[in-house]
Amino acid sequence: MSEYSTIVVSTDNRVGTIQLNRPKALNALNQELMEEVVSVAVEFDADPNIGSLLITGSEKAFAAGADIKEMADQDYPGMYASDWFRRWEDLANLRTPVVAAVNGYALGGGCELAMMADVIIAGESATFGQPEINLGVIPGMGGSQRLTRSVGKAKAMDMVLTGRFIGAEEAERIGLVSRVVPDDQTLSEARKAAELIAAKSKPAAQMAKEAVSASFETTLQQGTRLERRLFHSLFSLADQKEGMSAFTEKRDPEWKHR
Ligand code: HXC
Repeated sequence: MSEYSTIVVSTDNRVGTIQLNRPKALNALNQELMEEVVSVAVEFDADPNIGSLLITGSEKAFAAGADIKEMADQDYPGMYASDWFRRWEDLANLRTPVVAAVNGYALGGGCELAMMADVIIAGESATFGQPEINLGVIPGMGGSQRLTRSVGKAKAMDMVLTGRFIGAEEAERIGLVSRVVPDDQTLSEARKAAELIAAKSKPAAQMAKEAVSASFETTLQQGTRLERRLFHSLFSLADQKEGMSAFTEKRDPEWKHR
């Protein structure tokens, strides 16, 4: 029996996989699931044998949102005191690259969870949306911020104000997802991407993530300066010598840093 009640965890080829597993609730994100996902992800992040994370759901749902039934009776003092949803930020702040494999519904918190990943591979029938407005609330796991940064004001306002769902094709067109693939290949394509990332020089992959992520927080000048400094720092690692020697010697690199 799994030691977790809401997720299934496995590791293979330097990829740590977390599958959301509350099928009866379409993987609604309750507090227990949040704690399990984030604590496993933080452990993976610190593990030298892990080079990337893969987060996935089921065929029908990546996640249909935060758990509405759990939230329904909450009140303001309780929400504020527990800083409801803050723990998800620990997932967003991981240094290890994260790939999300999305089939089915990615709604509300489900869409927000997908957006915490660095690469999103979606099945062609995947459905994305921020329908919180229909519940009398607004996105609470970063949707208003990450969605706007991904797709711009016009599309973010449309989705957040009307609550309408969009399909995978539109999601790719507007820049919400990285790639769309046939539904039955979503997990395998996402796994391939995760394995490709996990096989790179780990500090290079982490710094690449850090540099791209910084673009959401900094001015262009600060961001390009950070990028340059990270780039310079990679010349202190054996992997830079190895990568460039392998290129000139026409062979595959053997990365030293994990
Ligand atoms: C709790 C949920 C749930 C959710 C589905 N279920 N979504 N339970 N929280 N977010 C449960 C249903 O109650 C039902 O349980 C079972 O999963 C199957 O769902 P159905 O509705 O019967 O399935 P279907 O008819 O196929 O419709 C699928 C669906 C619909 C379109 C995805 O379930 C839906 O609209 N879900 C809510 C989507 C949503 O509003 N998400 C945003 C949540 S708020 P039973 O026991 O009846 O079988 C959020 C951010 C919060 O994420 C931030 C603000 C604080």
